[in-house]
Amino acid sequence: MSKPYTFPPGFIWGSATAAYQIEGSPLADGAGPSIWQRFAHTPGRMLNGDTGDVACDHYNRWREDVALMKQLGLQAYRFSISWSRVLPEGRGRINHKGLDFYERLVDGLLENGIQPVATLFHWDLPAALDDRGGWLNPDIADWFAEYAALMYQRLDGRVRRWATLNEPWVVTDGGYLHGALAPGHRNRFEAPIASHHLLRSHGKAVQAYRANGKHEIGIVVNIEPKYPASDSPEDLAATKRADAYMNRQYLDPVFLGSYPDELREVFGEAWPDWPPADMDLIRQPIDFVGINYYTRNVTRHDASNWPLRAAPVKQPMHTYTETGWEVFPQGLTDTLLWVKQRYGNPRMFITENGAAFFDPPKAETDPSGARRVRDPLRASYLRGHLRAVHAAMGAGCDIGGYFVWSLLDNLEWSLGYSKRFGVIHVDFETQVRTPKDSARYYAKIVASHGAALEGGYD
Ligand code: BGC
Repeated sequence: MSKPYTFPPGFIWGSATAAYQIEGSPLADGAGPSIWQRFAHTPGRMLNGDTGDVACDHYNRWREDVALMKQLGLQAYRFSISWSRVLPEGRGRINHKGLDFYERLVDGLLENGIQPVATLFHWDLPAALDDRGGWLNPDIADWFAEYAALMYQRLDGRVRRWATLNEPWVVTDGGYLHGALAPGHRNRFEAPIASHHLLRSHGKAVQAYRANGKHEIGIVVNIEPKYPASDSPEDLAATKRADAYMNRQYLDPVFLGSYPDELREVFGEAWPDWPPADMDLIRQPIDFVGINYYTRNVTRHDASNWPLRAAPVKQPMHTYTETGWEVFPQGLTDTLLWVKQRYGNPRMFITENGAAFFDPPKAETDPSGARRVRDPLRASYLRGHLRAVHAAMGAGCDIGGYFVWSLLDNLEWSLGYSKRFGVIHVDFETQVRTPKDSARYYAKIVASHGAALEGGYD
């Protein structure tokens, strides 16, 4: 598709969040603790000692948040369900008050003409299941499928698009290999095992959906395209390893039924052999793949960087976000084309895309009392990346919609409240919400089906 930047009718414009990052009240009304509740309350784990105890207080303020989405003209909302809110021990006993929360949210969205898109697992594993080995215990695939079946039974029909897992790579790299995220392990032997059981759990949850589910189910992965820093054989090999580890480790099994060969090289003796039946379970037909895209990576060989032996190279003169990620919209077009070509043109959604840039803790107030947050860098980021999506669609990618990350400033995991990704500003002292300039710009893009991408963003 060339200019003007109009998107086809039916293209869905939305925003995304995750339970532990926004809800607050993690133990309210009979909910059980998750691993993030535990991790956040472990001294030294979170920047500034921040926790999700209050977060955006969305558990209590969800009506206001739905009203804000409606005001911006958003058509869909991708949220995640906290497993331990509905099953406090992870399995067995149901917490009906927790289930009611998600039923009310879904009904509230539908009443406002907003499609709910539910993610079953966005990192907050029930702590009771972690006590039984968490993602290292092969039985977790059955536990996850039981939980998934409960949610389908209650919400399918009202929720018409489901995602099993959000970013299994981050769960294993952050949670089991490098330890910066819950449950905070640092173990080369555990990471591939956790990955495999995440994927088996995805497969079983898709199977469970096919038993009665009437709509769509898929998986959400984060893709960070890797570009070699030079043509040297070492850099090219490092780039392949990094790509296999981060990008192909999950999509190859899901679409092709096998792991990339380079993973054996990355993990060495820690790489297990898995039975072929597991690979069949993982390779279930899915209705869409969700792509989360934030940045790219220029990669060079680095023997000291364990276990990948690859390291990123900073690009002088390029713009970086507050999380240190290069702004590189072309990488999104490249990613979407790569998925199309490698995996047989699956239906895709951009399930997350956005940026943390500095915004003040308080919105500006003019003499009339109107509040404003000026965030031109975020607006420019959105423009560049939506143009990149448009280009990929023009080159034949089947893309059903775009979800900005994030609706609200929220808890950026172990970085606490120090990084703001929202198009809506949250004053964490008062919980006052203020749509930033980027939200107004996004609303214009949505209302014009993309045509507003043509001009400037003020
Ligand atoms: C995650 C979000 C996170 C965002 C920014 C993604 O990895 O799905 O939960 O806040 O990126 O880091």
